[in-house]
Amino acid sequence: SFHSTISYRPIRPSDLEILEKIHGDIFPIRYESEFFLNVVNGYDIVSWGAVDLSRPDDQRDELIGFVTARIILARDSEIADFIRPDSSESDQTLVYILTLGVIETYRNLGIASSLIREVIKYARSISSCRAVYLHVISYNNAAICLYEKMSFKCIRKLHDFYYINGQHYDSFLFVYFINGG
Ligand code: ACO
Repeated sequence: SFHSTISYRPIRPSDLEILEKIHGDIFPIRYESEFFLNVVNGYDIVSWGAVDLSRPDDQRDELIGFVTARIILARDSEIADFIRPDSSESDQTLVYILTLGVIETYRNLGIASSLIREVIKYARSISSCRAVYLHVISYNNAAICLYEKMSFKCIRKLHDFYYINGQHYDSFLFVYFINGG
């Protein structure tokens, strides 16, 4: 089937240009070039890319989707209050999803779901990690449905969290608890 030709791999330096282009195309927020450099070089950021192996040779390694994330200390995070304290683990961590996207022609095929499953699997493999969390702008119904379907819990609504083109927007904070978090 079509699905079986989608493959997931780490993002690498040769993905820089396409990664930056897709972000520009699908997000209302601009990211600094430094962000993209950090992603492709894996500086403090973990990421997964999706490619379609059934495309012609010159495109079969081109990103069609991605997820980027960062590990942060639970106690420094805005969801510290939601994490059960653990006397044996003073340095509890969280995985914070920075960006998630799939190019338009590849949507509704389960690619974003697979990318999130990769993040959750990775987070579970870190013994200190208690949750995966993220912010989503309040009007993004597709993403909100996706996170709800993946069993993330909406724990907060942040008033005027985003400021885009002179307008304020609320955000929702979604969390997926793991490892007894
Ligand atoms: N409307 C309603 N629900 C949707 C939609 C939609 N347009 N798209 C996805 N969903 C929900 C559905 O519940 C779907 O399950 P179903 O197919 O069984 O109905 C579920 O999400 C899974 O969908 P996937 O196929 O895995 O998602 P897809 O690969 O299409 O990617 C994404 C979804 C990432 C939101 C995509 O539409 C996109 O790239 N949008 C633009 C960028 C964006 O909004 N990114 C997320 C911002 S938040 C952040 O980055 C932290």
